[in-house]
Amino acid sequence: MLLIEKEIAGIFNKMVENSFEGVEGLKEVDIQPTANDKFGDFQTNFAMMNSKIIGGNPRAIAAKLVEGFFENEIIEKLEIAGPGFINIYLKEEYLGKRINTMTTEKYDFSFLDTHGDVIIDYSSPNIAKRMHIGHLRSTIIGDSIKRIYNHLGYNTVADNHIGDWGTQFGKLIIGYRNWLNKDAYKETPIEELERVYVKFAVESEDNEELNDQARLELKKLHEGDEENHRLWKEFIDVSLNEYNNIYNRLDIEFDTYFGESHYHDIMPGVIEELKEKKIAVESEGAQVVFFPEETKLNPCLVQKGDGAFLYATSDIATVKFRKENYDVNKLIYVTDERQQDHFKQFFAITEMMGWDIEKQHIWFGIMRFADGIFSSRKGNVIKLEELLDEAKRRALEVVEEKNPTLSAEEKDVIAEVVGTGAVKYADLSQNRQSAIIFEWDKILSFEGNTGPYLQYTYARIQSILRKGAEASKNLDENAGVKFIEKAEKALALHMNQFPAAVLKASTTYKPNLITDYLYELAKKFNTFYNACPILNQEDEILYSRLLIADRTAKTLKEGLGLLGMKTVDRM
Ligand code: ARG
Repeated sequence: MLLIEKEIAGIFNKMVENSFEGVEGLKEVDIQPTANDKFGDFQTNFAMMNSKIIGGNPRAIAAKLVEGFFENEIIEKLEIAGPGFINIYLKEEYLGKRINTMTTEKYDFSFLDTHGDVIIDYSSPNIAKRMHIGHLRSTIIGDSIKRIYNHLGYNTVADNHIGDWGTQFGKLIIGYRNWLNKDAYKETPIEELERVYVKFAVESEDNEELNDQARLELKKLHEGDEENHRLWKEFIDVSLNEYNNIYNRLDIEFDTYFGESHYHDIMPGVIEELKEKKIAVESEGAQVVFFPEETKLNPCLVQKGDGAFLYATSDIATVKFRKENYDVNKLIYVTDERQQDHFKQFFAITEMMGWDIEKQHIWFGIMRFADGIFSSRKGNVIKLEELLDEAKRRALEVVEEKNPTLSAEEKDVIAEVVGTGAVKYADLSQNRQSAIIFEWDKILSFEGNTGPYLQYTYARIQSILRKGAEASKNLDENAGVKFIEKAEKALALHMNQFPAAVLKASTTYKPNLITDYLYELAKKFNTFYNACPILNQEDEILYSRLLIADRTAKTLKEGLGLLGMKTVDRM
C-alpha cells in the first residue's frame, strides 16, 4: 500500500501535467497533513514553492493548478487558501478503505535506497566493568533504530563493539592472581573484577613494580601468551554472560560482538597507510594526525611512542574492516555526548583516507536519577538489573491495584512488560540530545506521555474487542468505515500518518518522533471512544467502530514494537 501522501501527490502530479505542461525544473509536489481540519485533511504549498519558476503570484498559480483537477477516487475537493495554499479534502470512502486494508497490505517503502547493510554499533560496554546508564541508553536507542530500519526494509547489522582490548587487562590479570575472592567471583563476577581492579589502583600508587608487572602482562596478552589469553577470554565470557541477562530481559539481540580486540591485527596496517599518505606524522616519537585549522579539531594520537594503539586507531580499523567485509549502506554509532570529539576526529581521518562511506554519530544526553533513587549508590553506576527489578516491582503494585482479580502469573508477566517498557519509553520519548531526569512516578504513570499509558490504551481496546467478540471476528470481511463523528475521521487520518512518522524517525535517528506519534494516536483514540459509543450500536456502526478500534490497536502494537516494547491484552 502506498503512503497516503504519495497517493495524493500522484493525483497532483497529473494536475501539474495538465496545467503546466512543458514547464521545466518544477519542484516536487509536497503533501503535508494539516494541523487544523478547517484547512482540510492535507495541504500543499506547491504554488509558493514554484512561483519563481512558473512566474506570477502564487494564488494565480494555485488557481491554474486546480483547473487541472479531475474526478478521481482519492480527492473529494480542493480549496485555495491564504497566499496560495491548496487545501485537500479526501473522499471518505477512500479513507475508509485504507483503514480496512492497512493491516493486510504492507506499506510500500520501495522508494528508499535500501541497498547494502546498515551497521549499527551500540551498547558496547567495557569488559570487566558494569554497564553504566550511558550503555543502557545506547542499548535502548540503538535497538530502536535497528527496528525502525528493519521495518523500512533495510538490512541491518547490530554490532556490539565491546571494549575488550584496553589497558585494563594487564591490571586485571595481576589483580586476579593476587587478590581474587573466589566465592564473590562466582556470585557476582563483574563486581569482583571491579573490586580487584580498584585494589590494583590503590596498591600500585606507590609501587612502580606492580605497574611494570601489569604492563608486562598486557604485552604478553597482546603477543598471544596462552595463559593470559585464557584469562582474558574468561573475563569476556563472565562479562558477556552478565550483560546478556540484561539484553535478554530487554529483548535485545546482536548480530556480531566484534570488540576492539577484533581489530588488533588490522591496526598496524592502518598506521602504515596513514603514514604513507602523510596523514599521520611523527611528533615526539608518537604518530599524530593534525587537522586543518578551520575544522577546529584537536590533533588525534593514533600510535603512542611505545607502539601502543589507541581508541581512535581501533575505530579507524573498524571502518576499514566494515568497508571491506560488508556492502555498507551506512554506519551508525550510538554513544553518549561525551564522545562527540572522538567521532568527529576519526570520521575526519577516514575521510582523509578517501573512504567514502556515510557515517552518523548518534549521540545522546546524560540521564540522571532524581534524588532518592538509588541514593545509596554514587553517580550513575547502578546495577541495571536492580533498575529493571524496581521497575517491575512498582508496575506490579499498580497492576494489583487496577486489576486485582488477575492470576499471579498473569500479573507477573504484565509487570515485567510494563516495567521494562516504561524504562525504555522514558528513554526513547525524550529528544535524545537533552539531558533526562529519571523519576519513577513519572515514567510509571498511566497518564500522559508514558509507556504504561500506551500499553493501557492497547489493553483497553483488546477488552472492547473481546466484548464485541462475535462482531470482531469478521471485521475484515464485513466492516466498512462510516464517518459520523469528527473524532472518527481525525483518528483515521492520524493512523495513515504512521509510515510518515517512522520515515521521519529514521532520517533524524529520533525514536521520539514515534513516541510522539503514538501518544497522539492514543489521545485521539480516547477522544473517539468518549464521543463514539461502540458496543450498543446497530451492526453497521458497530462494525465500523470496532474496525477503527482494531486498527488503532494494531498500529499501537506495531509502533511500540519499533521501540522494542511489548503489549499485553489485559492490564
Ligand atoms: N566501549 C565504549 C565506551 O564504553 C563505546 C564504544 C562505542 N563504539 C565505537 N565504535 N567507538 O565508551
